[in-house]
Amino acid sequence: MTRHFIDLTDAGGDAVAAMLNDALDRKVARKAWPKGKADADAPLADRVLAMIFEKNSTRTRVSFDMAMRQLGGSAIILEAGSTQLGRGETVADTARVLSRMVDAIMIRTDDHAKIEELAHHASVPVINGLTDLSHPCQIMADLLTIVERGHALPGLQLAWLGDGNNVLNSLIEAAGLMKFSIRVGGPAGYEPDAGFVERARAAGAEVLFTQDPREAVAGAQAVVTDTWVSMGQAGGDVHIAAMQPYQVDAALMATAAKDAVFMHCLPAHRGEEVTDEVMDGPQSVIWDEAENRIHAQKSVLRWVFGQI
Ligand code: CP
Ligand code: NVA
Repeated sequence: MTRHFIDLTDAGGDAVAAMLNDALDRKVARKAWPKGKADADAPLADRVLAMIFEKNSTRTRVSFDMAMRQLGGSAIILEAGSTQLGRGETVADTARVLSRMVDAIMIRTDDHAKIEELAHHASVPVINGLTDLSHPCQIMADLLTIVERGHALPGLQLAWLGDGNNVLNSLIEAAGLMKFSIRVGGPAGYEPDAGFVERARAAGAEVLFTQDPREAVAGAQAVVTDTWVSMGQAGGDVHIAAMQPYQVDAALMATAAKDAVFMHCLPAHRGEEVTDEVMDGPQSVIWDEAENRIHAQKSVLRWVFGQI
């Protein structure tokens, strides 16, 4: 069976835990090495990943490319607009062709149904590099960052501030799998996907919604936010005005647990969802979080190839 990583549930909690352990070990083993040097065992030697981008990206593009290099393989970047996909070749035919040419496919797209269709017609692993619905690779890096800072995932209390977007959906999915609690502070009408919330609650995770940012953050060990307007979202003045009370500033951070970390998947809109003071402050782990995209995705890649 071909392993796809469309959402965290494709792997499940035990595999997510195993991937995090693998990522921690590999990160330590290559500490201070030149970034492009392959790991000693080069576990994906001769493997090629094709990456399709239908939306902008800095971190996802570079981290997958570097992950493949460090695993001993290589990557090809395809800007959808300059491929035949951008001229109307079907997703299914693209899946069939790429499956004959490369060993795995990563796609960043808008409609989640497209990645499902790609996976359906691909005979090689398909990895979700973000859709409008979810961003599981980001959450693998976030979990790695939290664990690396000495927080255990089971029982962790995490606060999310702002828009109920793709990153939050995957975070809620992770809460269900890894048994932690999420308190979402955000305006009514901007909630995350109801299906993700239901499944996490059914798995025993606390997922609480409040319009009071302080209630969301009180005692939290991780405070997480993201852009108020995601790629492809309409946004507008009403949307931005609704988000304003949920800006993460130093006063709000001070109400979290003493050892709380501040996280953001980036890119950030400094002065909107977060102040410079918090972004650049002592509790911020955003640069580790960005670097961890490489380490976490190496383990995701190893998992889709059946090595974990
Ligand atoms: N966090 C993240 O996915 O960043 P990019 O949009 O730069 O890939
Ligand atoms: N929620 C953001 C994440 C970007 C990495 C977006 O979809 O634009």
